[in-house]
Amino acid sequence: ALANIGVVGLAVMGSNLARNLASREGNTVAVYNRSRSKTDELVAEHPEAGFIPAFSYEEFAASLSKPRTAIIMVKAGRPTDAVIDSLVEVFEPGDIIVDGGNAYFPDTIRREKAVRETGINFVGAGISGGEEGALTGPSIMPGGSDESWVTLGPILKSIAAVAEGEPCVTHVGHDGAGHFVKMVHNGIEYADMQLIAEAYDLIRRGTGKTPAEIADVFAEWNKGELESYLIEITAEVLRQVDAETGKPLVDVILDQAGAKGTGAWTVQTALALGVPVSGIAEATFARSLSSHPEQRAVAASLPGPDEEFRVDDVDGFIEDVRQALFASKIIAYSQGFDEIRAGAAEYNWTIDLGAVSKIWRAGCIIRAQFLNRIADAYAEQPDLPVLATAPYFAEALTRGQAAWRRVVVAATQAGIPSPAFSSSLAYYDGIRAERLPAALVQGQRDFFGAHTYKRIDKEGTFHTQWSGDRTEIEAEDTH
Ligand code: 6PG
Repeated sequence: ALANIGVVGLAVMGSNLARNLASREGNTVAVYNRSRSKTDELVAEHPEAGFIPAFSYEEFAASLSKPRTAIIMVKAGRPTDAVIDSLVEVFEPGDIIVDGGNAYFPDTIRREKAVRETGINFVGAGISGGEEGALTGPSIMPGGSDESWVTLGPILKSIAAVAEGEPCVTHVGHDGAGHFVKMVHNGIEYADMQLIAEAYDLIRRGTGKTPAEIADVFAEWNKGELESYLIEITAEVLRQVDAETGKPLVDVILDQAGAKGTGAWTVQTALALGVPVSGIAEATFARSLSSHPEQRAVAASLPGPDEEFRVDDVDGFIEDVRQALFASKIIAYSQGFDEIRAGAAEYNWTIDLGAVSKIWRAGCIIRAQFLNRIADAYAEQPDLPVLATAPYFAEALTRGQAAWRRVVVAATQAGIPSPAFSSSLAYYDGIRAERLPAALVQGQRDFFGAHTYKRIDKEGTFHTQWSGDRTEIEAEDTH
């Protein structure tokens, strides 16, 4: 028998995805890996999967029914290009090559264009959920052509996580749309993680609670509006005791956060698009700041506030932090969806933001109850300009803003860095401001560079002759 789907690249993510595919009714899975041993191992360890092993690209192509469909699960970058080149050699027009890695979306746009010339379909698909998700049901964000979705849709639906009866996969949009959305997913993931870390730090330093006690706080929060996978695993991490020292594990882990690049891509892309994703940016920079021990060592001599930070009303403070976390989280997601909206406009993708929020409800790292509220907001108003203004979120911000401000003030006075909390609050106050000092910036730009400005009271573009008699003239619009 022929396989209806193949997997190339059998490291943990690839073999887990292959096993997931094989476990679903109707799928027969061909597997290929550059080094033969991984293939042999997987096939020997999982006889129940009925894998069809291939040991060359020719064999792999011959083992697939048409249209041939293969999911590549190798390292992003050059290794991905190499596998695509090999598959293009042995595939035929109408066949489908899927890149399931964390590719940078401009690479996906480039590859899709190049592969399309051969008549073969190329689909960049974001896959979230880590190793476990790949095995039991990830959230999948495919781009690519409508033609490829016809074949690929049912296969991906068969393995995706399920949220309220719906599989967590949708055809996000053409060419690089899927990887773009996965990139922003990761940016939001960075923001969410940093916000949770700031909440932990404030509670710990403000109340003196132990990590295990704070784990209980997070477990409690996980029963309410903050319910999410990241809050859940935070409690687990905080509760963990190091076997060697008997200390809380969080106290023996080196405080330098790593990053594989997707957060930075989200911020770079947002800068190019002119979208203020300040929460994601601060979260990304917070990781960078943490990872410069040489700078931190010299800066450690700089002074902080004189007084020690201790809150009097412990329960009240914890509730304030919870509210600040929820408010900041709303802003982070609002900014992330803003970036997807702007990216879709820039790259001519039709992306249904409500559908995106729905496929993030299960399977992925940012999965949460909260995503249902986002889906509701876009169902109500598909062209919502600012997600945070949707009734449910506006109400939460109204309820939480006083606590949010108290927390940012307390953190500032205590000298506890809370870049994601405070930048989210600054965004909130900026976006809702009736008038911004941007007017002054325009005046400054006009002064030194004759960059011109517009007026609130009449049409046209103007310049004040600063170095002359300072009268105003109409001018060409230079932006
Ligand atoms: C997911 C994760 C996954 C990976 C991140 C980690 O959705 O399953 O986001 O893609 O764990 O890339 O990113 P950093 O190493 O940059 O934290």
